[in-house]
Amino acid sequence: MRLGPILAATALAALAAACSPSQDKSADAGSATPTAPAAPEASDAEKQAILASYPAPYNAADLANGKSKFALCQSCHTITPGGANMTGPNLHGVFGKKSAGHPDYKYSDALKNAGFTWDADHLNQWLEKPQTFLPGTKMTFAGLKDAKDRTDLIAYLMVETGHKAQ
Ligand code: HEC
Repeated sequence: MRLGPILAATALAALAAACSPSQDKSADAGSATPTAPAAPEASDAEKQAILASYPAPYNAADLANGKSKFALCQSCHTITPGGANMTGPNLHGVFGKKSAGHPDYKYSDALKNAGFTWDADHLNQWLEKPQTFLPGTKMTFAGLKDAKDRTDLIAYLMVETGHKAQ
């Protein structure tokens, strides 16, 4: 549904391009830069503003490094709204959600029975070594040893999965 404004803007731009007579350059230039207030993807500046609203140390995290570390997760997880479950569940909206909270994903009993709510602290322990944090989990990820990398990755995930600071 959030594609609506974009589609509308695209359609308008196409219409403007198709309808404007070639001599009407000024009108063309004006319509070529429509403002799209409800873009589904936040701009980099907006992402930095969201980041700054998080508690330390996440407010000072390096989103570019977080994004590069997310390459370690990408083979098993999507993070976009409504993204597919793959080997692991889609992670959009995971912060503030109960563990094993995706309705369409078949979790291990270990995670189903864990009964905590995902926040940065839990993610931090989980990502250091999933199998130690939660024996019996079926997430076969060795762990991310470097604390700074985890901070950056968690901040990236919070921004990208739509987490708002409380
Ligand atoms: C080899 C595949 C694989 C990789 C790589 C992987 N995961 Fe997972 N992940 C899983 C599986 C499988 C589960 C479900 C675990 C269970 O049910 O015990 C899971 C579960 C999770 C959960 C819990 C979600 C929920 O709904 O409770 C989070 C959070 C998570 N992964 C984050 C990550 C992050 C961040 C990375 C990258 C550092 C990562 N995972 C890398 C397979 C993977």
